[in-house]
Amino acid sequence: MAVTISLINMKGGVGKTTLVIALAEFMAIEHGLKVLVIDLDPQSNATACLMDLKEWKRRNMRGQTIMRLFLDPFKQWPVFSPREALVRNASNIGGGVDGLDLMPSGQELMDLQDSLLTAFPDDCEGDTSLYLLRDAMHDILPDYDIVLVDCPPSLGIITQNGLAVSDCCLIPVIPETMSINGIPQIITRVNRFKRLTGSLVQPLGVVATRYREQNSEHSVNLMEMRAGAKVKGYGHVFETVIHESSGAANAVEYRRKPVSLRDKYPSPRPFNEYRQLTTEVLHCVGK
Ligand SMILES: Nc1ncnc2c1ncn2[C@@H]1O[C@H](COP(=O)(O)OP(=O)(O)OP(=O)(O)O)[C@@H](O)[C@H]1O
Ligand SMILES: [Mg+2]
Repeated sequence: MAVTISLINMKGGVGKTTLVIALAEFMAIEHGLKVLVIDLDPQSNATACLMDLKEWKRRNMRGQTIMRLFLDPFKQWPVFSPREALVRNASNIGGGVDGLDLMPSGQELMDLQDSLLTAFPDDCEGDTSLYLLRDAMHDILPDYDIVLVDCPPSLGIITQNGLAVSDCCLIPVIPETMSINGIPQIITRVNRFKRLTGSLVQPLGVVATRYREQNSEHSVNLMEMRAGAKVKGYGHVFETVIHESSGAANAVEYRRKPVSLRDKYPSPRPFNEYRQLTTEVLHCVGK
């Protein structure tokens, strides 16, 4: 039975995509799990980091990206086929990782979010546009142990499609005051989504990312985040903290041709941090 985890935060640049890629690669390679990454972000960063650009353009032309799934309701002839769109053995590690698949995004998704909002009511109760992803993927998700959904930096209709297929959501946060102040708002929106749709999606917890220990604000904020986790409804702040490092930032560059996880993620950081966080996340979801 697949466990689906959405990585969400309406704040941009907190490391959602970088984390999705690392978690997917560690889960597939070190734990032998069947992993699917669904790239719901119109920026398509996870797609660009996990597959060849030329192949991606070919799929865009054939309408075999997640973009087309959202566009089809406006077309007379639907063309999106989830099985055809799936990219098998994604990632640049060793030319592709067995058991790591990708549902690629398409850049036109950006304009589409606006069309979806105009075409369908904003409130989610009974809104069929919320379930486009769920309906398309329902017989594919059971093929996987873990599904990771990379969401855009918003809690709009596209992210809500991600929540509608998710068992839980993970919130990456840079431990800065403004980012931390946004967490209760995310929890409130997730709770509202649950109330309106009957979804059982659970906040899995908060991961501190791009942490700078020399920055006293970061360390104080991290302590406060841990202290307030239960009261403020985050559930849990993961023990593992992902430090800011050029190694983490550069690792996800697709053009590099790493032969292994250790080759892709420099040791001791960020390799050890992604490895530990993967174990923590899997433990939390019972895998
Ligand atoms: N641990 C890290 N250390 C240093 N840089 C990082 C780290 N994690 C991510 N970055 C860099 O920060 C930037 C934003 O990361 P990423 O794209 O993963 O964030 P995001 O939350 O997915 O952004 P968006 O909301 O725009 O999708 C990228 O340039 C990435 O390389
Ligand atoms: Mg991103």
